[in-house]
Amino acid sequence: KKKSRSVHVCSSCGHSDGQWWGTCKQCGEVGTMKRFTTESAGQKVTGVRVSDNAVRSWVPREAAPVKLTDVYSRVDNSNWRIPLHGEFGDEVERVLGGGLVPGSLVLVGGDPGVGKSTLLLQVAALIAERIGRVIYVSGEESVEQIGNRADRLSIGTEELFLHSSTDVEDILEQAQRLSPKALVIDSIQTVYLNGVTGSSGGDVQVKECTAALQRFAKKTNIPVLLIGHVTKTGDIAGPRVLEHIVDGEKLSSHRLLRSVKNRFGSTEELGVFKMSQSGLQGIFNPSEMFLADPHSDSDYLAGLAVAVIMDGSRAFLIEVQAMFLSILYVAQLIWALCVAGSSSVVRHVNGVQGSRADMIISVIIKQAGLKLQENVMIFILIPALSFLESPIPRGIAFIAEVGLGGELRMVAQLEKRVSTVAKLGYKKCIVPKLAANSLSEMQEGPEAMEIVGCNNLKEMINSVF
Ligand code: TYD
Ligand code: MG
Repeated sequence: KKKSRSVHVCSSCGHSDGQWWGTCKQCGEVGTMKRFTTESAGQKVTGVRVSDNAVRSWVPREAAPVKLTDVYSRVDNSNWRIPLHGEFGDEVERVLGGGLVPGSLVLVGGDPGVGKSTLLLQVAALIAERIGRVIYVSGEESVEQIGNRADRLSIGTEELFLHSSTDVEDILEQAQRLSPKALVIDSIQTVYLNGVTGSSGGDVQVKECTAALQRFAKKTNIPVLLIGHVTKTGDIAGPRVLEHIVDGEKLSSHRLLRSVKNRFGSTEELGVFKMSQSGLQGIFNPSEMFLADPHSDSDYLAGLAVAVIMDGSRAFLIEVQAMFLSILYVAQLIWALCVAGSSSVVRHVNGVQGSRADMIISVIIKQAGLKLQENVMIFILIPALSFLESPIPRGIAFIAEVGLGGELRMVAQLEKRVSTVAKLGYKKCIVPKLAANSLSEMQEGPEAMEIVGCNNLKEMINSVF
């Protein structure tokens, strides 16, 4: 006997329910619940996959047992990585942990306009030039539009194939046919899998598409580079399979690439780029960021003050600009915090807007004797803090917590914070006096910084100006 069962599935988030609701109980969308009926007893309607075939065809099948010695030959090859140093230096390669691992899935996330498409087009061209065929698929732009960008980047390789498509099955079929050395997909939010509920960009689609692409990568050993947009909450929409993010402060031309999660390398590496007329260029010596900033407008310079905050084991560099009197705090996150770290970063930034900012301002007025007049800028670094009445000389970082008496206190994981600013090319770092000696001893090599210990805000001002 046929069993008939109805299920209501939300076309937006994929939530399924035995009962129909006007408003999806999971995502809250109105009118998105659609009814599905199954007749055969064996067919499962989960709401996530109405038809599983498209997805299943990319599952790697290791049908028969294999000889150990055959496996050895694969293992030998598996250490090989696609080298990625080009006009952008070795910034991308380093962040990936020494090149692109064949068969891996890399997710590049960041705010719109930060340069994700540019970066991956440059990477695609590089691989195409050096290693062989690469397919760059865009679900957002036409082939002509990608061509325009490529022209701007002076890409002339014969081995780069452009494809405009949003259908994952089609994309993977094309990829299998051309068997490229790498596949780029711009972006995961614009592609969809047939038979999966929800529109492209929805949680379910993003998750299923990523899973299919990852299976494809594993099965074919073709690395897949995915672009992911960052949502309002700062998450890369999409499962955190392997995330690499590019993010940058829009006012400046610098972009930073850091690894958030990397099975094949360290997450400590940082890539520094500059967005130029002809794409992203690697910055070999990050102190350039401070020496040759195109925004030499003094008001803007006055806003530059940097602190490092820790989120778990990761150090985030943040820049916060605050203007007194209008009590307008414009937090500018310079550095890469979209993915996991971002929510907490945003919280920190919000956290300072109220009482903490007031407290800090009164401490500055009382303890440092600074007159806060109109147009005087106060710089609040979170959780460390600094302030100033005129531009802070370039390349100075501040790491400390300010107590009620204006004293500079120790903060957790000071060493890690210091090494992070050192990597970025800062030349001087103000820290609490207590920590200065041991930190100075750590400083050697090309990233060495001058460490200045200060007991309180007054000492700090004196040592900065
Ligand atoms: P894009 O890669 O399209 O960003 P995303 O894919 O992250 O949305 O690049 C965005 C900006 O970069 C755009 O405003 C133009 C600028 N740009 C340059 O300055 N130089 C270049 O060579 C290119 C290609 C873009
Ligand atoms: Mg883009």
